[in-house]
Amino acid sequence: MIEALGVFMWWLHISSAAALIGGMLYASAVLAPAAGGLGAEARTALAERAAAGFRRIALAAMAGLVLSGLYNILSNTGHSTRYKILLGIKLLLVAHIFSAALTACRPHHPRRTRLLAGGAVSGFVVIAISSYLRHIF
Ligand code: HEM
Repeated sequence: MIEALGVFMWWLHISSAAALIGGMLYASAVLAPAAGGLGAEARTALAERAAAGFRRIALAAMAGLVLSGLYNILSNTGHSTRYKILLGIKLLLVAHIFSAALTACRPHHPRRTRLLAGGAVSGFVVIAISSYLRHIF
């Protein structure tokens, strides 16, 4: 039972990270440049509808990440100081990603693409830190 919970939480963490970071990357590196070929009115309408649609996914992914991340922290205690420092840096970057995603999904935000691109870059740094955390204690 405990093992099944651990597997579920790992799945939730990875799926939520993929949805959030993948969505931010797609929106900033694919959708926004592709919409550049449209007229101003159509471009704005597309961007607003895409932001409203992504907001639901981003909120669900953030809830999944916080729930499974807290489970990870509480189920593995007794880490080294280096582990705790890197986890702290990771969580600061996570705060940046969450606030970038929430701000970018607000209606009529003028710097939406930049925010999403910055959040995606932080996301890849967070994944690199997390990969390292897995191998130290
Ligand atoms: C954008 C947000 C996040 C991303 C992209 C992310 C990504 C990852 C990845 C890829 C792993 C490695 C999983 C594995 O292979 O074992 C991981 C593990 C972990 N995450 Fe996250 N995470 C995010 C948010 C969070 C949050 C909000 C928390 C805490 C509340 C958290 C806490 C942890 C912990 C404690 C681990 C285990 C590290 C270890 O193996 O010792 N993460 N995360």
